[in-house]
Amino acid sequence: MIKKIYHLLPKNIQKKIKEQRYEQISKNRLKSFEHLNQKSLLSVALKEAHFLDKDMKGLYKKPLFTPHKKVLIKILNKIKDNKLKEDPSYLWAKKTSEIYTQWLEHKKPLTERKEKNIYDKSKITEIIKNRRSIRIWKNKQIPTKNIIELIESAKWAPSSCNRQTIEYHIYTKKEDRDFLGKLTPGGYHFLSNAPTIIAVIVNTSIYGETEERQPFLDAGAAIQNLLLKAEEINLAACWLGWHKGLDKKFQERYKIQKHMKVASIVGIGYQNENPRTPARKSTNNITKFY
Ligand SMILES: Cc1cc2nc3c(=O)[nH]c(=O)nc-3n(C[C@H](O)[C@H](O)[C@H](O)COP(=O)(O)O)c2cc1C
Repeated sequence: MIKKIYHLLPKNIQKKIKEQRYEQISKNRLKSFEHLNQKSLLSVALKEAHFLDKDMKGLYKKPLFTPHKKVLIKILNKIKDNKLKEDPSYLWAKKTSEIYTQWLEHKKPLTERKEKNIYDKSKITEIIKNRRSIRIWKNKQIPTKNIIELIESAKWAPSSCNRQTIEYHIYTKKEDRDFLGKLTPGGYHFLSNAPTIIAVIVNTSIYGETEERQPFLDAGAAIQNLLLKAEEINLAACWLGWHKGLDKKFQERYKIQKHMKVASIVGIGYQNENPRTPARKSTNNITKFY
């Protein structure tokens, strides 16, 4: 009813209705975030900032995400953990709320990056094609700095609404490798020989009901980045699937909350086999043009 007569109402009443609607939207959103821990709040803040960032591109006829600004500011205020407050992603979200306010006032598209960087793109196809799953490793540990490099690449993968809810848990001790080797079905007999095992874990607590695929897709993109980086720096990795039914055992052993779910496991070390290249289907057979 109100929708039908809205445009007939005087401007000041329209403004009031709009403000009340925004207030209600922000209240409802904030309520749904009440139970979240600090790390999850940062991911939610990133999502809100992402909406504002999209708005500023001028993709929509009118600003679409104005109520999110208030939510973003309130969430940022709820983040008290100093380590998180110094995180570049927190600072990015904070800056986004500031420039969005300016943008609303001036309606000028604001972009920080004017030109695309020029860099050497020649190697990516070679790396993509030459990467192999390696399941036999040398008995030699890889340096921590290499593990950090892998995660540095993984974290640049796209993630749904830039929420970045993935964590990387690293295991190098024999008892952990044995535990994970036995637990991970597709790694039976060989995963425990990987000098380093990474569990790629997603925080499932901040995705809506229709979004159950997103955290695991985010993890998939991150894992692929990690594997390609491993190939680039001469490390050898194997991606291992995980089953829902294994979550409990894993969470109990490592005292991890229920919403933190393993997406997949990756075993990494130095290559000690030269596998055949498993063929790929012909492009013709997997492509349909409409
Ligand atoms: C989601 C996913 C789960 C996988 N799970 C396993 C696994 O449990 N055990 C295993 O040996 N390999 C696993 N792999 C690796 C695939 O078997 C491998 O990528 C495929 O055979 C192609 O070989 P390539 O990676 O050498 O090109 C998995 C790969 C993906 C993407």
